[in-house]
Amino acid sequence: MAEPVRLAMIGCGGMAGGHLRAYQTLKTRGIGNFELAAVCDTVEERARGFARTIREFQGKSPNVYTAVEMMLKQESLTAADIATPHCYHHASALPCLESGVDVIIEKPLGITVKASRKIIETAEQHGRIVATAENIRRYLGQRTIHWVLNERKMIGTPRLFFVQHASWSPSSLSSGAMQWRVQKRMSGGWMVMDSGAHYMDSIRYFFGDVDRVYAEVRAFEPKEYTDASGQTVCGDVEDSWTATLTFKSGLIGTWSWSQAAPGKGFNHVLYYGSEGSIEDTGDVFHGFMSGNPEVQLKEGSVKYLNDLKIEFLLSLDAGRKEQLFPHGITDGVVLECYDFIDAVAHRRRPEVDGWDGLRAKAISEAIYESSWCGQAVSVDEVVAGKVEGYQKDINEYWKL
Ligand SMILES: NC(=O)c1ccc[n+]([C@@H]2O[C@H](COP(=O)([O-])OP(=O)(O)OC[C@H]3O[C@@H](n4cnc5c(N)ncnc54)[C@H](O)[C@@H]3O)[C@@H](O)[C@H]2O)c1
Repeated sequence: MAEPVRLAMIGCGGMAGGHLRAYQTLKTRGIGNFELAAVCDTVEERARGFARTIREFQGKSPNVYTAVEMMLKQESLTAADIATPHCYHHASALPCLESGVDVIIEKPLGITVKASRKIIETAEQHGRIVATAENIRRYLGQRTIHWVLNERKMIGTPRLFFVQHASWSPSSLSSGAMQWRVQKRMSGGWMVMDSGAHYMDSIRYFFGDVDRVYAEVRAFEPKEYTDASGQTVCGDVEDSWTATLTFKSGLIGTWSWSQAAPGKGFNHVLYYGSEGSIEDTGDVFHGFMSGNPEVQLKEGSVKYLNDLKIEFLLSLDAGRKEQLFPHGITDGVVLECYDFIDAVAHRRRPEVDGWDGLRAKAISEAIYESSWCGQAVSVDEVVAGKVEGYQKDINEYWKL
C-alpha cells in the first residue's frame, strides 16, 4: 500500500472546524489514505483542542505547533490544509510549497491577486498541487443547476441575471473572526470577496468567465469595535455594492448587496435564458442550497429543483456519479477535503485548483477595482495584475 498522505492543518478556527469534521467523516468511513500528522495555530490552545479531537477519532495525536516554519522543520509532511485569515494564506502556503508540501487553501486563494499569483507560481516552480477549498459548487443543488444549464440547456442560452439583496443588519463585530474580516489589510475586503468568493466561483461554474465589470462599492455604516486590548478600532471595508458583470459568452448580470438598507428589505435571485428562467429561493452567495427553486419555461411549464435533482442523479452513469459524489459523499466540505487528499495521492489536478481560485477571486477584485477607479475594468487585466489600485496598499503592507 502507498504511503499515507501526511497532512497538517494550519489555522484551527471556525471553518477549520468544518474541515476537521470532514476529515473525521472520511477517517470514520475508512475513505482516503491519510494521517493528520500536525496542527498549527498561533493560539496554542486552539491547536491543542484540534489535536484532542483528532486523537479521539484517529487513535493517534498530531503534533502541535504555533508557527508554520517550526512545523515544517520538525515534520515530514506531504500536504497542508490552510484556513487562516486571508492575509496569512500566502504567508502559510509559500513555506509549505517551498518545502515540497501540497496545499489546499480556503477561499479566497490569496489576500490580493499578487498574493494569489505568488502562491500559484511557487507551486509551479516546485511541482506542487494547489487546491482552492470551494465547497458550495459541490452540493447536489449546484451540481443539478449546472446540469440544467449546460447539459439539459433547459432555459436555452443564458442572457440575463438579477441577484440582489438589501437588509438592515449592521453586523455584530464582537467575535475575533468578524474583527479581522472588517480590516481591509487582513481580509482584503468584506462580503464582495468573503462569502462573495463562493458566488464568484459558482457563476464561473455555471456560465464561464466574466469579461468586464462595472461596480460601485460603499461603506455607509461605521464598523467600530473594541479589540482584545480595549482599544476602539474602526473597520474600513464595504457594507454595500452594486455591480454589472458582462460575461465572455455575452450574458449580463447585476449583483448587488447591502446590509445598510434600513426599512424594507428584499432578496431576489433570478436567472433568464432564451427559453425560460430559474428562480433561487436562497441567499445571494450560496446558491441553490435551500428551499425548492423553480425553473419556469416560456411555454408555461414549471419544474422544481427537488424533482430535477432526482432526474439529474438518474442521468448519471456510474463513472460520472463516482467522479461527482465519490463514495456516495454529498457534503461539499467533505467532498473538497476528499478531492484534495485524492489529488495529492494520485498527483492529479483538484477540481478547483489555484487558477480557478484566482480567476474567481479576480472577479471580486474587479468589483473593488472598478469602484476605486470609477470605470469598467477587464477581469483579464485584473488577473494579469495590470489593474491593482484598490489592492496597492495591501500589497505594500504585506511586502508583496
Ligand atoms: N467555505 C466556507 O464556507 C467558509 C466559511 C467560513 C470561513 N471560510 C474561510 O476560512 C478561512 C478562515 O476563516 P474562519 O472563519 O475560520 O476564521 P477564524 O478567525 O475563525 O479562524 C482563523 C484561525 O487562524 C488562526 N491563525 C491566524 N494566523 C495564523 C497563522 N499565521 N498561522 C496559523 N494559524 C493562524 C487564528 O488563531 C484562528 O484560530 C478564511 O479564508 C475564510 O474566508 C470559509
